[in-house]
This record gives sequence, C-alpha cells and structure tokens, in this order.
Amino acid sequence: MKLVVTGGSGFIGSHFVREILATRKGWRVLNVDLLTYAGRGRNLADLARHPRYRFARADIASAAIAPLLARERPDAVVNFAAESHVDRSIHGAAPFLRTNALGAQNLLDAARAARVARFVQVSTDEVYGSIPGRARAREDAPLQPSSAYSASKAAADLLALAARRTHGQDVVITRCTNNYGPWQFPEKLIPLMITNALANQPLPVYGDGLQRRDWIHARDHCRGVLAALERGRAGEIYNFGAGTEPPNLRIIQEILRILGKSAALIRYVADRPGHDRRYAVDAAKARRELGWRPAIALDDGLEETVRWYREHPAWWLRLKDAAFRAFYRKNYGNWATGKTGR
Ligand SMILES: NC(=O)c1ccc[n+]([C@@H]2O[C@H](COP(=O)([O-])OP(=O)(O)OC[C@H]3O[C@@H](n4cnc5c(N)ncnc54)[C@H](O)[C@@H]3O)[C@@H](O)[C@H]2O)c1
Repeated sequence: MKLVVTGGSGFIGSHFVREILATRKGWRVLNVDLLTYAGRGRNLADLARHPRYRFARADIASAAIAPLLARERPDAVVNFAAESHVDRSIHGAAPFLRTNALGAQNLLDAARAARVARFVQVSTDEVYGSIPGRARAREDAPLQPSSAYSASKAAADLLALAARRTHGQDVVITRCTNNYGPWQFPEKLIPLMITNALANQPLPVYGDGLQRRDWIHARDHCRGVLAALERGRAGEIYNFGAGTEPPNLRIIQEILRILGKSAALIRYVADRPGHDRRYAVDAAKARRELGWRPAIALDDGLEETVRWYREHPAWWLRLKDAAFRAFYRKNYGNWATGKTGR
C-alpha cells in the first residue's frame, strides 16, 4: 500500500503517519506538507531516515500536486492539510478558502487523474455548528458552520461528495470532534493553557468558559481515519467522537490541578465572535460499520498530554515566537494589560 498523506507535519497528520508506520507493515507513506507556521517539520524529524517514509514540500492548492500524484501513483490519498485555527479564520478567511476548499478540489482532481483508488477527506464536527440541548449530530444533520474555518471545511466535504456523484470518485469523509494530545500547536485551547500555565502566564478563557466540546485523543481519531480508509464505504461520512462533553473551564481547572498551579492564573476575556456553545456527534455509524471506538479515557489522555508538554519545552517554546505573540495580542486584545472581557 502506497499512501499520500497531506498535512502530515501537523498535529493530527503526524500522529497518523506514526500510526501507519507502526501498525501497517509494508505500507509506504509520502507526506506532502507546505510547512506553514503550523507544520514546521520537526514533528516527524525522528522519521527522516525511516525506510518507508518520505517527505515532499508542496501546497495542496498548487499546480505541483497533479504531477506529484501522477508520478507517485499512490493507492490512496488522505487529506489532513488545512488551515485549522478558528480564531485565525476570524482575522482573515482567504488562506482558509484557498487551502481547505480550493486545495481539497485540486487534490480531488489530481487524485482522480492519477487513478487513485480512494480519497479520504478529514473533516470536522464543526461543520454541524452548535448543537442545542442534549442532541447529537448524525452524519445527515444539516451543515451550519459558524466560522470561515468550518465553512471552508464544509465546502470541502460538499466538493468531495460532488466528485463522488459527478465522477464516481471513491471518497470517504470523516468528521471528528475536538482533538488533543502531544504535538498540538500551542495556539489551540489545551496546549495554550498547559504552556501558559507552565510559564506562569495568565490563561485567557473565552466568555464564561462553559462551552462544551467532546474531547478525543488524536491517536483515537487517527485509528478512526485508518478504519475509514480500510473499511469505509465509498461516498459515506463517518463521525468520530468520544462521547464526553466537559465544559472548557473544567478542562482548564484539571490542567491547573495536574500542574499544581493556581486558579488565579485564569483571566476571563471577551468571547470569540460566533463561538459555538456545544459540539456533540453521534458516532454510532463508525462503531457499527468500522468497528471503531475510542480507547483513551479523557483523564488519562490529559495527564499524558500535560506530561508531554512539561517534558518538551524546547518544542513549544520555539513555536511561541514573535509571530505567535503578535497573533496572540491581536486575538486576545487588551486582556494582557489587565482589562478583562467581563
Ligand atoms: N484539531 C482538531 O481538533 C481537529 C478536529 C477534527 C478535524 N480536524 C481536521 O484535521 C486536520 C488536521 O488538523 P490539525 O489540528 O492537525 O491541523 P494543524 O494546523 O496542526 O496541521 C495542518 C497541517 O497542514 C499543513 N498545511 C496547511 N496548508 C497547507 C497547504 N496549502 N498545502 C499543504 N499542507 C498544508 C500545515 O503545514 C500543517 O502541517 C484538518 O483538516 C482539520 O480540519 C482537526
């Protein structure tokens, strides 16, 4: 089996590449990644000499992709590449549309031209928007994205389904809930809170902090994507979720508890515009058809993740550079100077 994995230098993609090389003997992986700010290459530095792993730097939205896939002739393409941070999509949507929507179409076209047997589009539960009450979104729930990030991911899903209907292309779409784990860029909630707390810096909490997310470990997500690649039915969508939904504030308090830090570090800031209150999916179809279920309990996964960040300061300190700090200031406004959002 020859795989092209896009976005393999990012958080989840790097877990996926490791999962493949560790569990699928004989499979070969070409990681195609642009190495944006979110994928600076070091996530997979230890694999540089692995005999079944190769890397190519390329933009999935560029003309380089068609010849690359024509040369490579992989059995499958798994598309993780994306602009992935909702907050950044509020400040500027263009890179999200380019990579997430145009890039997905470009990859779909190139894969079809190269007669790639299967295309897995890694999507997100954020395409369903905020889910009220106790409901859980099934795969046929309406798409109601709230941000340019989730709207661009929904566009990619629709483009993949259109390629299925128009061209009979073999596509499978996966929609997972919020991921956490080692190697996550420190702009995202859990690593931001861990790394700020480690540095004794304030923890910015949006609004009342009671937004609910169904946190799932990235390794569980990757085992789901692999199951969809191997056993998913063409043209189908599979939700993945762990079935937990703690409020963000509880996750943050738990991080502080594990690190032995004070809750006085918490600063409430103005809520994110269009902030979805609750995400929740029904993952019964993935359990039934793919035999998939998450294996890592949130408490255990969070302990492991906090430990990993504590033990790898060189990795995340390098990422919290001047560009990161400029984004941070723009995003969280005046809170750092003492003015909170409440
Ligand atoms: N993080 C989550 O909680 C979550 C949940 C569900 C689904 N997803 C989806 O999983 C995928 C991976 O998310 P992540 O959190 O690992 O993101 P990430 O930002 O950590 O990684 C994205 C990777 O894509 C690469 N990339 C960006 N633009 C590219 C382009 N034009 N061409 C080639 N490579 C490009 C980046 O360099 C980076 O390595 C995304 O598609 C995202 O929508 C994420």
